[in-house]
Amino acid sequence: MDSLNNKVVIITGASSGIGKAAAHEFAKQGARVVLVARRADILSDVKKELVQYGREILSVPADISNEEDLQNLVQTVIQTFGVVDVLVNNAGVSMGGDFCEHDANDLKKMVEINLYAPMRLTQLILPLMLARKQGHIINVTSVAGIVLSPGQTAYASTRSGLTAFSHALRREVAGSGVRVSIILPGWTKTQMLEKMDLEKMRDAKLLNPFTTLDDPQVPARAIVDAALHNRKQVLLGGIQVRVGDLMTRLSPIRITDWFYRVLMNKEKLIAVMKDLG
Ligand SMILES: NC(=O)c1ccc[n+]([C@@H]2O[C@H](COP(=O)([O-])OP(=O)(O)OC[C@H]3O[C@@H](n4cnc5c(N)ncnc54)[C@H](OP(=O)(O)O)[C@@H]3O)[C@@H](O)[C@H]2O)c1
Repeated sequence: MDSLNNKVVIITGASSGIGKAAAHEFAKQGARVVLVARRADILSDVKKELVQYGREILSVPADISNEEDLQNLVQTVIQTFGVVDVLVNNAGVSMGGDFCEHDANDLKKMVEINLYAPMRLTQLILPLMLARKQGHIINVTSVAGIVLSPGQTAYASTRSGLTAFSHALRREVAGSGVRVSIILPGWTKTQMLEKMDLEKMRDAKLLNPFTTLDDPQVPARAIVDAALHNRKQVLLGGIQVRVGDLMTRLSPIRITDWFYRVLMNKEKLIAVMKDLG
């Protein structure tokens, strides 16, 4: 995509954090942005902030785990703009701690929001893109889905799942004109991280000189860059994530298991992650 000027970009989870920062970055590039999240009042504040960039902004309050809300979202966008050029599946919720202690309803809800909803929204929008032989689906997952740490078992599974979905989908639509990208943020200073104690994270070696703690603008710019330059995958989070990624892909599983058993303190990791909710 040479330019984002006038392109119609849907961003889920646009009321805060990475989604809100991405909405600013897209609007700055001249895109017409569709803001999606549950909190209508906050969404309307974000919409007011974006007016400065001079493009039409649409706010569609929706719970992405609700089928009716998704149908209404797509219908509203098509009625308003007629097309969707970019879909950013960014909304997500976190969950951490001892896997067995997760509430069953919360667990189901997280899987619905983090994995099923982006797949379903893609299912609703992809045929429109395929018919136009153009469009870009950008899925925001997490390095958590690569490093697969204890204490993030359930959350990491949803992030890995969305990453796997994105790779397979890219192969499925290859040659159709539709692009698929994955952005994997590392620790990012958003509402999601507000619940975490940074000191405890440092003590558990989750934050160290080889990891990054980014402002939301970092993944937001990576999302826009992926849209402009068709980056297939952008891995953020620092050198430790890259090494972890290589270890997971190249070394025998027992080496990675040994890393978590011997070099990291499993109990500490699970205790720290519990703050994620
Ligand atoms: N922060 C990090 O360290 C980090 C690291 C790696 C990956 N990520 C990923 O980045 C993405 C964005 O997270 P963030 O850090 O920016 O967190 P955040 O500030 O908590 O934002 C989450 C967004 O998702 C929306 N959302 C949650 N449930 C929703 C639902 N059912 N329907 C519609 N919208 C919903 C929230 O809006 P409402 O509450 O208004 O609905 C909010 O706008 C997530 O997918 C997360 O997994 C974050």
